[in-house]
Amino acid sequence: MVDFTLTDEQKALREMAHDFAEKEIRPVAWEHDKDGSWPQEVFDKAWEVGLMNTHAPEQYGGPGLDFLDGCIIEEELSWGCSGITTSLGANGLAAAPVALGGSEAVQAEYFTDLTENRSLASFCLTEPDAGSDVSGMRTTAVRKGDKYVLNGSKCFITNGSYADWFTVYAKTDKDAGHRGISAFLVHKDATITVDKKEDKMGQRASNTATITFNETEVDARYLLGEENKGFKLAMMTLDRTRPGVAAMATGISRAAFEMATEYSKERVQFGVPIAMHQAIQFMIADMATKVHLSRLATWHSASLLDQGKPNTIESSHAKRFAADSAMEVTTDAVQVFGGYGFIKEYKVEKLMRDAKIMQLYEGTSQIQRLVIARETLLPRRASAPAAATA
Ligand code: CAA
Repeated sequence: MVDFTLTDEQKALREMAHDFAEKEIRPVAWEHDKDGSWPQEVFDKAWEVGLMNTHAPEQYGGPGLDFLDGCIIEEELSWGCSGITTSLGANGLAAAPVALGGSEAVQAEYFTDLTENRSLASFCLTEPDAGSDVSGMRTTAVRKGDKYVLNGSKCFITNGSYADWFTVYAKTDKDAGHRGISAFLVHKDATITVDKKEDKMGQRASNTATITFNETEVDARYLLGEENKGFKLAMMTLDRTRPGVAAMATGISRAAFEMATEYSKERVQFGVPIAMHQAIQFMIADMATKVHLSRLATWHSASLLDQGKPNTIESSHAKRFAADSAMEVTTDAVQVFGGYGFIKEYKVEKLMRDAKIMQLYEGTSQIQRLVIARETLLPRRASAPAAATA
């Protein structure tokens, strides 16, 4: 049965997240956007109400929410500010490879630290010369006795300046391409430096930094999964987290759609509110459709995960469609505002700047198309036929 009717618990979660976005995120979002400052006060409140580490298992102090629940929350928070939401949710991205590949003892240590000590974690995959092409990474991990020694730099790392833990991908066999990459859980120490904080076009409240590992020693028990199997761990992680990005993109689209709709009812031109003009009505209609379909694709890709089913193609469908839609919807929202949309006072321009990163991080829209094309033409796994999965 296909049914996306939310349970009472999910409705309550959505209401709680929306309330938080309205009262704690939106009032400060534009200030943090302006000066690119770290929203510590929002973090503190999110910890208090239980909106941090929603993915963390119950036995380690987390709420153990499933993927669909996480997406419902992320859409609401992102409606408030996607930059702040990116920072609040970064622990989830960093934790996925630990949940997939960490031993029970490592998971207990890590998740308990996150939930009890309010620690932060970052996911370190991208490098200056290895963005879309993950296997081109240069960071190395050399085994020395019961330790690995890491050297190299990772860029565009969300929360990098504040992280206590890093999930790091590095080459353990330089000549083996994607089959020579391993994943590690690394605790912050003096050998790890934060080299650069990026000054970004959008999502300015999220911290984005370059992190360098200089002879960083990591105990072998922090190897996640098997040696040289880290590439697959990264891909499995992204299958699990791209629905969350799609949910955030949906939240941005919804915010822009709501602002444009309200404005179109107030702004009078040619003697009537501009909402009376068909040119504007069609833009509003297209925005509404894009928000609706983004959410459906997002929820579908997340619910497959909750059922323990593969979701590679569905997660790329959702991420690609919701991200591209967010760019289109926010651009059209600025258009509905006309010249005022171009002025910071009207706030809709922030959404357009924020939307851009949705088409870039956690795999560009072009990479999502590559995944979709490959899964369609040469499916890696048995799944419902692509045409029947909508
Ligand atoms: N699950 C499990 N295994 C997978 C998989 C998946 N979803 N996708 C691929 N694999 C496996 C393949 O079966 C293959 O296995 P074998 O070794 O057995 O042959 C192996 O992985 C290699 O697969 P490909 O040949 O498809 O690999 P590729 O080099 O062509 O790369 C890619 C594929 C889709 C382009 C991939 O590199 C990719 O997703 N790139 C984008 C990276 C990305 O999203 N980066 C975002 C960084 S995180 C971030 O942005 C967050 C932040 O904080 C800013």
